[in-house]
Amino acid sequence: MARQTDAFHGSDLEKIEQIYGIKKEDIVSFSANVNPLGASPLMKRELALRLDVISSYPDRDYTRLRQVIADHCKTVPEYILVGNGSTELITLFIRSIAPKKAMLIGPTYSEYERELSLDGGRSAYFALKEEDGFILDTPSLLSTLDNSYDMLIICNPNNPTSSAVTVDNMSLILDRCRALGIFVLVDETYMEFAKEQDKYSAIPLVAEYDNLCLLRGVSKFFAAPGLRLGYAICGNMRLMKEIAKNKDPWTVSSVAETAGQLMFTDSKYIEDTKNLIFSERDRVCRALREIPGLKVYDPIANFVLCRITKENVDADILFDKAIRQNMMIRNCSSFTFLDNKYFRICFMNPSDNDRLLALIRDVMS
Ligand SMILES: Cc1ncc(COP(=O)(O)O)c(C=O)c1O
Repeated sequence: MARQTDAFHGSDLEKIEQIYGIKKEDIVSFSANVNPLGASPLMKRELALRLDVISSYPDRDYTRLRQVIADHCKTVPEYILVGNGSTELITLFIRSIAPKKAMLIGPTYSEYERELSLDGGRSAYFALKEEDGFILDTPSLLSTLDNSYDMLIICNPNNPTSSAVTVDNMSLILDRCRALGIFVLVDETYMEFAKEQDKYSAIPLVAEYDNLCLLRGVSKFFAAPGLRLGYAICGNMRLMKEIAKNKDPWTVSSVAETAGQLMFTDSKYIEDTKNLIFSERDRVCRALREIPGLKVYDPIANFVLCRITKENVDADILFDKAIRQNMMIRNCSSFTFLDNKYFRICFMNPSDNDRLLALIRDVMS
């Protein structure tokens, strides 16, 4: 029996299997934030014909893969560094900057704080306010930053709030940080799910700011978390050379190298994913807003944060009821600044979303 205080991470399906006796293949994960269409069909078809790449080392410089990624992101391959998931790149950039004191915008993804603490640096949180719908108050952040900080990490769109900083506000943040000697790491893992990417993505700023690095990967939008392929986009050539020199060679396998070259060119799949997420995001949020006792925060990414305002119901109860029907939601009580009144769900296929909506309505009634 799971303890009421257990908060499972999106990738904890094995733990769920043990505790609840549900086979992990039978669980619909509303918690992992992974595209419900699965991986690119073009990639799967072509990769199967090229599995012999296993017998060769990947290109040490990943020249073709970086070109394909640069085309996908409308930037240049010189600005791209590939890694073993964006997780490896979070580690490499934090280790290379070696901040004495970093600022995080919370609640946010926990890996940043973990990595910072492993490297002995201090970190402080700037809190997103519930009453602002967890949207960053940029002027207030700007006045809080000072030269005691040397790194700022922003998840954009942010996990778990699904709120995002506009590129105009990001420019203001970068100007202030440049003046104070602060390096800014922006995790854009969920950016491709935003309807107005031009309004939010900082890719156009990469050439302009040498205190900026963006991180992305294929785990969520391209539904390939098992492949472990991420990339950094950074215009600071001195830093890029230093990181490339110190990093282990071949941390991206030849399978991931080949799969990456294929999936970024699957334009039909990219279009289908956007159509599905855009329409389900609108439809599910409309339905959630009609449920009394729930507060829904406007989502920019492929997931939504909700707060249960009704007494006697919390995310532990909702998690338990949902998992017993093979649906896994994210209880957000383990996030800094949140408690067990908050939960997060990602948008899956329409029939699965309907099943979860019916359960939430039932629990809240
Ligand atoms: C914000 C954020 N960044 C990075 C990651 C990890 O990504 P990857 O699989 O590319 O290492 C996650 C995974 O949940 C995430 O939510």
